[in-house]
Amino acid sequence: MSEAVRSLGTYYLQTYGCQMNEYDSELISWMLEQMHYAPTDDPATADIAVFNTCCIRDNADQKVYGRLGEFKGFKRDNPNQVLAVSGCLAQKDGEEFLQRFSQVDVVVGTHNLTEVPDLVQRVQRGEGRFVRVERVGDSFSLLANPRNTHSAMVTISMGCDQWCTFCIVPYVRGKLKSRPLEQVVSEVKRVVREGRREVMLLGQNVNDYGRDLTPKKDFGDIIRALKGTPGLDRLRFMSPHPAYFTQSVIDALADNPATCGGIHLPVQSGDDEVLKRMRRKYTSAEFLDLVARMRAAIPDLSLSTDIIVGFPGETEEQFQNTLELVRQARFRNAFMFSYSPRPGTPGNLFTDQVPEEVKSDRLQRLIALQNEIAVEENRMLEGQTIEIMVEGRSKKDATRLTGRGRCGRLTHFQCEEDLTGRLARVRIQKAFVWGFQGELEACESRLGEWSLVPPAPSIPVVA
Ligand code: SAH
Ligand code: F3S
Repeated sequence: MSEAVRSLGTYYLQTYGCQMNEYDSELISWMLEQMHYAPTDDPATADIAVFNTCCIRDNADQKVYGRLGEFKGFKRDNPNQVLAVSGCLAQKDGEEFLQRFSQVDVVVGTHNLTEVPDLVQRVQRGEGRFVRVERVGDSFSLLANPRNTHSAMVTISMGCDQWCTFCIVPYVRGKLKSRPLEQVVSEVKRVVREGRREVMLLGQNVNDYGRDLTPKKDFGDIIRALKGTPGLDRLRFMSPHPAYFTQSVIDALADNPATCGGIHLPVQSGDDEVLKRMRRKYTSAEFLDLVARMRAAIPDLSLSTDIIVGFPGETEEQFQNTLELVRQARFRNAFMFSYSPRPGTPGNLFTDQVPEEVKSDRLQRLIALQNEIAVEENRMLEGQTIEIMVEGRSKKDATRLTGRGRCGRLTHFQCEEDLTGRLARVRIQKAFVWGFQGELEACESRLGEWSLVPPAPSIPVVA
């Protein structure tokens, strides 16, 4: 912000949920900064507070409701604060927010984010409280202003047409809407020109991309179009659906050197009957066959996944099938969830809900197995050197830097110099469930130029 333009006040933004929400939050921050508000970490004194919310599981809802309670107190001391709730929970609860929480002034759904500045100003002028959850303005924003200097998220599609029976996303994010291929490609090229070296393509179901475009396109078209983009070192995407992972997409990924082996591929369950009731459109054998074909094509493949335990009707035997699939697929990492019934979804209406104690017992057993596998997989890399994109200082230990390998694993290493945004070669010393602790061997001294670490001691010049 130029010095001539004084800040009108501060805003506090709290983001819940997935990458898509983080992306949307970038847009909200950008809009508030255009209004000349500056970010603050202090929710009590902020002039504008925004909660960008998630409703994927009941505990996501509860977190937001709980935090809103605290804001009642803040508002008592800071009565001019404007409190806005945006995103998926806002879409789901709508008007109810205003009725339930007197401290909330603005509710904006997933399709109305660009209305935030206008509505905030109207509240400030004393025009009332507002709810906007209409499915309009489905345009892709080019305004996102990611703060991250080395990595950018680029939306390729919004919404989802899969209607998995456990999932609320299609209800709150709407139908699949793909962004034109040329727009995706030009945005990726723009962010790369601006210095971003890693791009994460975002969509609820990225490999269903383009089915709604005329002429039709597919996810492979994006990967092919981005091949050879100068400066694009790492290409990631989130999340693909196993049933839409065609051989042509696998081939396109294998053929693009920027493709990172760390791929997130949600499986949800390892039992065919449960998969069918979840409406996932693949069997466990088809999933494992896909994994084998991906491994053959992408040699550094390192899969992570999402798994739900205790979907309605899931028996112990069916849960055992999930454990068996986990043993065979050998995921590097898994996000594991206890099924949470979501209002309006078919799963919520199934009468054979699994008791909470059974779900949490299964979740613990699954986590224990997956943790063992993650450590075993990670140990195989001990002693090897991997390439890390440095993300910044470790929050727990400021003497360390932290970053990710192409495999997606988190890696910490000691280093005094701040190498944020640079690539480093790190030798893995010790493997953990979450990733690695390593030792810096070499790093880029400038973009694309490598130097060995530690640098040779300089010889004092004697006059
Ligand atoms: N396609 C999205 C999925 C979003 S939901 C994506 O891009 O990742 C993220 C994960 O939450 C899902 O893969 C699923 O494992 C889990 N999930 C979704 N609905 C759930 C529910 N009702 N209960 C428990 N977990 C759920
Ligand atoms: Fe949800 Fe299934 Fe779409 S998990 S986001 S309905 S692919």
